[in-house]
Amino acid sequence: MSQPAQPQRRRALTGIKPTGTPHWGNYFGMIRPAIELAESTDAFYFIADYHALTTVREAAALQRDSREITAIFLACGLDPRRSVLFRQSDVPEVTELSWMLSCVTGLGLVQRAHAYKDAQAKNVELNFGTVTYPVLMAADILLYDTDVVPVGKDQVQHLEMARDMAGYFNMQFLGEPCTDEAGRWTGRGLKRPEAMVREATAVVPGIDGEKMSKSRDNVVPIFGSAGALKKRVMAVVTDSKPLEAPKDPTTCNVVALYKLFATTAEVEELSDRYRAGGYGYGHAKLALLEKARSHFEPMQERYDRLIAEPDTLEDVLVDGARRAREVALPVIDRVREATGLPRRRSAR
Ligand code: ADP
Ligand code: TRP
Repeated sequence: MSQPAQPQRRRALTGIKPTGTPHWGNYFGMIRPAIELAESTDAFYFIADYHALTTVREAAALQRDSREITAIFLACGLDPRRSVLFRQSDVPEVTELSWMLSCVTGLGLVQRAHAYKDAQAKNVELNFGTVTYPVLMAADILLYDTDVVPVGKDQVQHLEMARDMAGYFNMQFLGEPCTDEAGRWTGRGLKRPEAMVREATAVVPGIDGEKMSKSRDNVVPIFGSAGALKKRVMAVVTDSKPLEAPKDPTTCNVVALYKLFATTAEVEELSDRYRAGGYGYGHAKLALLEKARSHFEPMQERYDRLIAEPDTLEDVLVDGARRAREVALPVIDRVREATGLPRRRSAR
């Protein structure tokens, strides 16, 4: 008797730029939810090295940061046999799709991007790569017929733009939205993706209470020496209430960060101590430090091992790129055909 057909798994895809050391915001906002998605989806992850070129000017730094992120994903639990981990630039067809999307996208759309508006407001001159950043990002997503994109809240606008660009492409080249009455993709043109944002970790605060971000000096790196971690945690900003005074757990940065690691019951217990008084911010910081250490310790050990094996990391990326290209090449051919460009010779 034949087996019933397995329903096709949805494809999840996400990317991260190799620009600086990843931090708790990246981990809780993106890396961990993305890795968890490998349970239920066909998961693709990539190192956005083309995107990094909008800012990075040091070849050695680009290579070092790319290796570091590869090691972090693996250390945090990504299984490279089950999921696909690759470098964006190893599938250069993404720049081809980016060009096609830029031909159907109005300037007004990219001018609405937060990064573009911020630079305008500050009167900073932008390079053209930064202006077209959302177009390359849309190509990253659309090249793999992606269903769902796990990201932090700051990337939701880019996801909306990717959906819009898929729509423009379909309408302009094929004259139809490429969905049926129920809104399901028909397999023609480009598939429109959805963003997936975890509300609980949509915006991880930094040690100053603002959004944790490389560009504000408020991050706690995922990995590093015990001393460096302690220094960052001890630097979390609080008010100056004395040890005896009752404190408000709902407005405290230490509690906000503790929530990332602790169970609801543990957060309640800490909150009770705050309200009762006789419990200082120093105590709370040590409790946070302990939680963070035990959370990251097993991963740190794996990370230290992996980062010392650049050849292993490279092998994972090369194999990932081969599998990613198997998905990308038929999409590129479909897109070329829709535009009237010849299919690639190898596909004819
Ligand atoms: P940064 O803001 O430090 O430059 P990136 O822009 O490289 O970080 O972000 C990489 C990924 O991590 C994105 O999916 C982003 O949404 C997520 N992310 C970054 N910072 C945070 C944060 N503070 N809270 C939640 N998610 C975050
Ligand atoms: N723009 C994303 C960031 O700054 C990185 C990124 C590039 C990305 N291409 C992507 C994320 C495609 C998700 C899907 O974090």
